[in-house]
Amino acid sequence: MSLLDSTHQTVSHPERIAVIGAGYVGIPTAVMLAHFGHSVVIAERDEFRRESIRNGRSPILEDGLEDVLAAVVQSGQLEVTADAVQAVAGAKFVFLCVATPMDDDGRADLSFIDAVAQQIAHALRDDAIVVNKSTVPVGTMERVRSLINRPGVRVVSNPEFLREGTALGDSLKPDRIVVGAEDRDAAKSVAQLFASTGAPIVVTDATTSELIKYASNAFLATKLSFINTMSRLCDQLGADVDDLVRGMGSDHRIGFPFLNPGPGWGGSCLPKDTSALVAIAADAGLSLDVVRAAIESNAAQQRHIVTQVAAMVGGSLSGKRVAVLGLTFKANTGDRRDSPALQVAELLLAAGAHLCSFDPTVATDDASGDVANLGVCATLEEAVAGADVTVVLTEWAMFRSLEWSRLVPTMAQPCIYDARSVVDLESAHAAGATVRSIGRS
Ligand code: UDX
Repeated sequence: MSLLDSTHQTVSHPERIAVIGAGYVGIPTAVMLAHFGHSVVIAERDEFRRESIRNGRSPILEDGLEDVLAAVVQSGQLEVTADAVQAVAGAKFVFLCVATPMDDDGRADLSFIDAVAQQIAHALRDDAIVVNKSTVPVGTMERVRSLINRPGVRVVSNPEFLREGTALGDSLKPDRIVVGAEDRDAAKSVAQLFASTGAPIVVTDATTSELIKYASNAFLATKLSFINTMSRLCDQLGADVDDLVRGMGSDHRIGFPFLNPGPGWGGSCLPKDTSALVAIAADAGLSLDVVRAAIESNAAQQRHIVTQVAAMVGGSLSGKRVAVLGLTFKANTGDRRDSPALQVAELLLAAGAHLCSFDPTVATDDASGDVANLGVCATLEEAVAGADVTVVLTEWAMFRSLEWSRLVPTMAQPCIYDARSVVDLESAHAAGATVRSIGRS
């Protein structure tokens, strides 16, 4: 329970709150609001997720979440139902936390939002406030309001900035709370729900609020693409990207966060939100060149890694055995959506390599929906044995303390490519391995 502290006092006026969607945003939101003392019902269509929550277990891998979830389920502060209509009955606040996947032309697909708004419209309290936490294009608040079409019901935009893996901590200690609505009173009463986080509150109109989420994610993606491009330039020039980051990040205007070079940015948000923002701008008659370049540059990073890996084994990957360590889009999550690791794996396969992969969250029979022929192994030792080159693609803590003296002798060639800068160089070099990583000469 280290994430919790005494600043999170129980509220004096508990509200009845419905949260629609038990995903990466819905669960931490529901758990946090229940922890603050509100009476929360979470509606989820997926039976496995419902059962898991009912039994006090988190269906998603999130640091510290399960303990708090179990406590609020046990105390009755958090209930779960399959029925969104039942969940919203009597609720003063209704949080929409459903998925907004990317459609074929890069725009956010709003079919889940639309369906929920239509479904719950008649069941809402006359004075209900519907809070949109799903990431949605500019104008969606208005769209939800007209779908609900109830004069007393107000709709508020409240974008979520939590990161996967640290979602509960980010929810409890956010950098800011953004609330947008035409009705400032409704916006303020939503902000009040988060008062005990102590975070600064930005109250704005709905359009700006919706844009803040996209602009923030696009900025982070652009920062990452910039440093990743610099890592490639370091390779070309023989410079050192770690020193470059030290030199740049110390400038407080630049800062160190989001300056770690890697295999590119992925996950369920940055790729989808950057594409959606480009589409939003195009619809408004603006070509968002900076963000478009960040997207293109991201794919170039993965091609660069594969070229570098090939160079380690003589220039061609055809018929080479490659151990892939890490498949999730980052560490401390079980999420492989839009994972750069999978994109690199696909390129390695296309270059003729045979893959043996390992990820602490992926079982051998659990690669459905992923790239074919990942060759998922049950153990890291199995993946590495016989490999011509081992490629580290996710920064799992366990990869930092590997006993290379034990692993390297089992490899066909002592080559390691470290796309996350986690390999203990001393131990790997002592084992006779050659280690390369992006931007480090
Ligand atoms: C992101 C935003 O950070 C969050 O505010 C928003 O609500 C959802 O999208 P998340 O998808 O959980 O969160 O991932 P994040 O931790 O931001 O990382 C995104 C990608 O960038 C990952 O692939 C990660 O590995 C990569 N990354 C991040 C780096 O390569 N280097 C870094 O220094 C930071």
